[in-house]
Amino acid sequence: MAEILGGIGTSHVPAIGGAIARHLQQDAYWKPFFDGFQDVRQWLQGQRPDVVVVVYNDHGLNFFLDKLPTFAVGAAPSYTSSDEGWGIPTIAPVEGDPDLSWAIIEGVVAEEFDVTSCQEMRIDHAVTIPLQLLWPSGPPPVRIVPISINTVQHPLPSAKRCLAFGQAIGRAIRRHPPDLKVVVLATGGLSHQFDGERAGFINPEFDALCLNSLADDPCRLTGYSTREIVALSGTQGVEILNWIVGRGILGGPTREVCRKYHIPISNTASAVQVLEPR
Ligand code: DHB
Ligand code: FE
Repeated sequence: MAEILGGIGTSHVPAIGGAIARHLQQDAYWKPFFDGFQDVRQWLQGQRPDVVVVVYNDHGLNFFLDKLPTFAVGAAPSYTSSDEGWGIPTIAPVEGDPDLSWAIIEGVVAEEFDVTSCQEMRIDHAVTIPLQLLWPSGPPPVRIVPISINTVQHPLPSAKRCLAFGQAIGRAIRRHPPDLKVVVLATGGLSHQFDGERAGFINPEFDALCLNSLADDPCRLTGYSTREIVALSGTQGVEILNWIVGRGILGGPTREVCRKYHIPISNTASAVQVLEPR
């Protein structure tokens, strides 16, 4: 049966792609940020997953404001890298795992989560940047299943619904017969806001509360409405919903393997966290 080894949460700021392309990893601005990924890379080397389930939000590449599924699951044989306008380098297409994708789609629909299934899906910076951070020296040695959450156009799914959706995905993965090693990768956040009077808003206290809750008690986050999360975390900080789905996939109690928090990268409070099911 498929096994879930653990979950990684990380920010997905496009400027990181520019820094990678220009080899700025040792530059004073970037060094503390890139050094923060050593522990997670070491953890991954010990785990050697076959598949990474990537929970992220599409930024207008596949879905725009005219059509925006709340939850969309990729079921493609491969995913082409593209972006919605940041001008960052793309990466080679990443192989999918359609069998696992359909197991997830069938499992969550059976549990009454009516997802959009996508047999064609392009991946943007929210998938490609985290993959490059985790496997800096070449193409990622894994297949992926991308799952896109609407964190863009209101009404957004509630934190409670996101945690429950993740739990249903986790059950579907654990019921999948092949002996696959699966890692969850949730991307986005933490606090950031691009627009309006609060542009540049960052909230380290709420970010710490989110990271602590993800590790110890994710249900604490389900007490916040999406409006409250936007107020506390910013209009784009609400991407924390992706992390809540990812945490749901892990299921019961977790052990925190490592955590790094660094502000700011571009407009964003960046974080990386690894959790293992206990
Ligand atoms: C930035 C952050 C994001 O989450 C994103 O999708 C795009 C840009 C930023 O901080 O620049
Ligand atoms: Fe984003």
